[in-house]
Amino acid sequence: MTEGNAEQAALWNTSGQGWARVQDIVGQVMRPFEELLVRKAAEKPRRRVLDVGCGTGGVTRAVAAATGAECVGVDIAESMIAAAREHDRAVFVLADAQTHTFEERFDLVVSRFGVMFFADSRAAFTNIRRAAEPGADLCFVTWRAPEENPFMQTAERVATELIPDLPARDPDGPGPFRFADPDHVRAALDGWADVEVTPIDRTARLPEEALVPYLSNMGPVSRALRQAPEDERDRLVGRVRHAFDGFVHGGEVSFPTATWLVTASAPL
Ligand SMILES: C[S@@+](CC[C@H](N)C(=O)[O-])C[C@H]1O[C@@H](n2cnc3c(N)ncnc32)[C@H](O)[C@@H]1O
Repeated sequence: MTEGNAEQAALWNTSGQGWARVQDIVGQVMRPFEELLVRKAAEKPRRRVLDVGCGTGGVTRAVAAATGAECVGVDIAESMIAAAREHDRAVFVLADAQTHTFEERFDLVVSRFGVMFFADSRAAFTNIRRAAEPGADLCFVTWRAPEENPFMQTAERVATELIPDLPARDPDGPGPFRFADPDHVRAALDGWADVEVTPIDRTARLPEEALVPYLSNMGPVSRALRQAPEDERDRLVGRVRHAFDGFVHGGEVSFPTATWLVTASAPL
């Protein structure tokens, strides 16, 4: 594992505990993107599929169910893989996708927001290409700019208000908005063929009562709350909830999302 990815592994291993606790809510919020990847997977027969940065494995399982293919999820965080392995239906590997030597060859590689955290994106996609059969498809979703994703932007703003010295996001370093500029995706996919980057706008939804558990267990707000003194957390959660009032409509939370759907193929 490279030094940069060891840092991400530690971060995600901590975050993974929260993700595992609210994995059903995450699945609900992220359903539109699962559907995109499942549709792509079901376009043609698949024998073996790799899900990169699979987290707790929701997409891996959905693709396995839709295609009947042998599906492998890879993730660098032990807590994520442990949660993924609680379900059957797919094989889950604890490894750094940037450097891991995959034994199998895949005819489809998918990822839902799992490819923006590599220390060296180009090296990672080259390594993933080595695991792809000639002509294999690559299909992943990644976030567009924070300004186009007001829910995530609110979460970042609130987190900074809670903990002012929270490290600032490096727009070019590992992080959710790393590929907001599509030229960065194209550069990372050097050596892949037929690269297409398509904007996708979808509404994400969750029940109002799931909002506080969702924010308290994942993303920048959860990181800020973890760092806050324990006796202040309840008060801070109230403040956080208030900041998201604009996204609550009659018992449901809904917010627009702006992503790129990236497709490519491994050269023949
Ligand atoms: C935003 S989460 C997405 C999880 C999952 N794909 C989903 O949609 O629920 C990003 C995931 O990428 C994983 N990850 C980050 N760097 C990685 C690496 N170098 N190799 C494998 N997985 C990595 C993290 O551990 C985390 O589970």
